Amino acid sequence: MQITLATQPYASIEADALVSYVFDKDNKFEGALADIDRGMNGRLNAIVSSGEFSGKALEMLLIHFPEGLAAKRLLLVGAGKLQKFALTDLYKIAGAAVRYLKARGVKSFVFLTREGERGPEAAQSVTEGLIVGEFDSDKYRTDRKDREIHCVSLAGFDSGLGSNLTAAIDQGRVIAESQNFARDLINEPSNRLTPRILAARAEAMAKEVGLGVEILDERKIADLKMGALIGVAQGSIEPPRVIVLRYEPTSSKPNGPVLGLVGKAVTFDTGGISIKPANNMEKMKYDMGGGATMIGTMRALAFLKPSVPVIAVIPATENMPGGRAQKPGDVQVAMSGKTIEVINTDAEGRLILADGLFYARKLGCTHLIDAATLTGAIEVALSNVNVGAFGTPREYLDRFLESAKAVGEKMWPMPMDDEYEEMIKSNIADIRNTGSGKGGGAITAAWFLKEFAEETPWIHLDIASTCWVDEGRPWLAKGPTGIAIRSLVDFALKM
Ligand code: BES
Ligand code: MN
Ligand code: ZN
Repeated sequence: MQITLATQPYASIEADALVSYVFDKDNKFEGALADIDRGMNGRLNAIVSSGEFSGKALEMLLIHFPEGLAAKRLLLVGAGKLQKFALTDLYKIAGAAVRYLKARGVKSFVFLTREGERGPEAAQSVTEGLIVGEFDSDKYRTDRKDREIHCVSLAGFDSGLGSNLTAAIDQGRVIAESQNFARDLINEPSNRLTPRILAARAEAMAKEVGLGVEILDERKIADLKMGALIGVAQGSIEPPRVIVLRYEPTSSKPNGPVLGLVGKAVTFDTGGISIKPANNMEKMKYDMGGGATMIGTMRALAFLKPSVPVIAVIPATENMPGGRAQKPGDVQVAMSGKTIEVINTDAEGRLILADGLFYARKLGCTHLIDAATLTGAIEVALSNVNVGAFGTPREYLDRFLESAKAVGEKMWPMPMDDEYEEMIKSNIADIRNTGSGKGGGAITAAWFLKEFAEETPWIHLDIASTCWVDEGRPWLAKGPTGIAIRSLVDFALKM
């Protein structure tokens, strides 16, 4: 999708459609929209009076052959109440417009922003919404329509801002394309995305964008004594990999912070010997969503060049119930030396992250963030609305939540009281990999991870219920969401 700043007045641009948005308030058509309404002899106001369109969030009004415009259609998208409107709503409006028009065979449109939103941040939000909205999960459907919006021109922006606006569009494009890169990985079925294939795809991407990359194979993993990861991987004939991606700024402070991004990449989670029920098990192909999130984030950072060095560590494995699989009750020794009693082989994500987090610290990371489709319990707590965000110290988590808020990704802080730590004590080892069965499953899982982050500032994002949506949203196709990437990028850039 080509996205450019309009160089002529919006009314004279020949395109399949002109898109703008309208607030749910009394005087809906002001400024440019008042001009458009005048050109149409007050038809817009007449439609509103008839009650057909009120401007409530993401409501659509499509008009063909609007008088006074060179575009073939006029699409007005509801923007909701003006008092509740945030710049990130532009992201949803732009995404919803793309999805609505694409389904109607539109190939090009003009996106006209309103008088209040003419700066670079608005241009970035719109760009991200357009590109993220374009994505569809139908890659393997031979009857897919491959409908595509070829070009969008952005009108209404303050032309005095010239290069700031193009820079914002470029940044939005990088972030959104990286989000779609991750979504494509998450969408892949496990027979087409084994740990080795995931590593190869991450490596190819890294070489293309200029990131450092190292892929640890099963021998290197054994040399490093990553016993928790090996315990999970031993049930599969597919060997595990640890993907290490590095971003190095051109000049970085000696002894400055190093950000470590650790992502769970279980390319398929059967549960292992503690096997899952058949119902919905096919969804466990997206159990590598945390890993894909970090790979996508690194792709964006390679272009956007934050001033902090960033290292991503992504342990990748299948969780299978093979003849060599670990069994409930087994004790594994993690790379850190801590011993783990494996009560349930389906609590495998925390095992591989234990070694991933510890290894990231070994590589010099001073600040950690992990992302993982870790627990079904986070869905009980927060449904598919908020990401569960854990972390210590609390100030570090709060800084991250600021970024999430700025980009419009919903995340909710979860408690880390010491009482929960008691629930993962084991009788025969240092810790056990499940809680005591008294609830709080997402929190005891987070505490397990903290045992390996120890005193290093650490954030854990449980994306099990938000990484994938079964029902599409107006601005987002059903399937992988690519959640958390925009927050992570924002956070790294501000660090
Ligand atoms: N990958 C699952 C968590 C999950 C569940 C992700 C639903 C996406 C959707 C994880 O490995 C798992 O199986 N967790 C168990 C832990 C339990 C055995 C302590 C769970 O949440 O049931
Ligand atoms: Mn599991
Ligand atoms: Zn899992």
